[in-house]
Amino acid sequence: MDASADLRSMITGLRVSAAVSAAAELGISDELAAGPREPGQLAAAVGADEDTLRRLMRVLMALGVYSEDVTGRYANTALGEGLRSDVPGSLRPLARTFQDPATWAAWGHLVHSVRTGENTFEALHGIDVWAYRAEHPEANAVFNANMTALTSRMGDAVAAAYDFAALSTVVDVGGGHGILLESVLARHEHLTGTVFDLLQATPTAPSAAAPASVVSRWSAVSGSFFESVPAADAHLLKKVLHDWSDERCIAILTTCRKSLNPGGVVLVVESLLDRPGHELEAAVSDLNMLVMPGGRERTVDEFAVLFAGAGLRMGRVVETPTEVVIIEGLAEPP
Ligand SMILES: C[S@@+](CC[C@H](N)C(=O)[O-])C[C@H]1O[C@@H](n2cnc3c(N)ncnc32)[C@H](O)[C@@H]1O
Repeated sequence: MDASADLRSMITGLRVSAAVSAAAELGISDELAAGPREPGQLAAAVGADEDTLRRLMRVLMALGVYSEDVTGRYANTALGEGLRSDVPGSLRPLARTFQDPATWAAWGHLVHSVRTGENTFEALHGIDVWAYRAEHPEANAVFNANMTALTSRMGDAVAAAYDFAALSTVVDVGGGHGILLESVLARHEHLTGTVFDLLQATPTAPSAAAPASVVSRWSAVSGSFFESVPAADAHLLKKVLHDWSDERCIAILTTCRKSLNPGGVVLVVESLLDRPGHELEAAVSDLNMLVMPGGRERTVDEFAVLFAGAGLRMGRVVETPTEVVIIEGLAEPP
């Protein structure tokens, strides 16, 4: 492969992101789910200028996201199907996150953070991502939908990887819409669980797909993990600590430790920077944490330091067949 061609596609990758994101925003894959559409039909259905839509589709067909039949009608390919709203683990919300101008602008400001070490989003917009989302319901809805979709891809595997037999109650701290909690409750029928999050993210009910056996053991509470969290035998923290600085992580872990029942455990579910086979994914996510919430990805040893700072003892690192591992933080001395 020509090295300069590789470099060129790295440099211009944002154009590809923008094209896929625009298709997601327009809902092209949803429209094509019912079958192939002529360009004029598709433009009318998604509210687009036909000539310009053809230009966008030309790129997306070259990328293999859509195809065109001999009569010139557009159709979803396997990639395009992944941008449908109604497929399990849909990537449409992820693509739509880049439609938020504040997110797009923050990435354009990355060099500021590299120079200063400051969180990009806050340095540029004067507000952190959580307060911004509280003020921008559309961006908030897309973010929460994205977390739900991404977590739905791994929730069952995480639930299966950990032995909850000795535990009775679990709180999904910063659990968003609580999709991980639903997987855990579905897999471990003796557990009752609570999803805990900021008001802007807390669901009012389990997802429509949750079985009755989960609904009856499910509850939700709003609040801030810098103040208090509901008591439980296990506190799940999935992709929460990576949003925060070390100091703030220790504050969150300390809040959890204080409300753990005797013999309880904090279960940190995160990617690791030093996990073989996941290096690039974790490194790119680390930059995302720098740019957006102002956190970072970490190594196992760095998590051990956070646990120690919060008065927790690090237990096992439990592998899952997904991008995350489960790290135990134990309140009791060995
Ligand atoms: C990256 S998301 C992870 C969501 C979920 N655990 C998952 O993996 O799908 C981080 C979550 O932390 C929540 N959060 C942020 N600040 C919080 C606070 N002070 N108290 C409680 N939750 C908070 C956000 O609303 C968001 O749902």
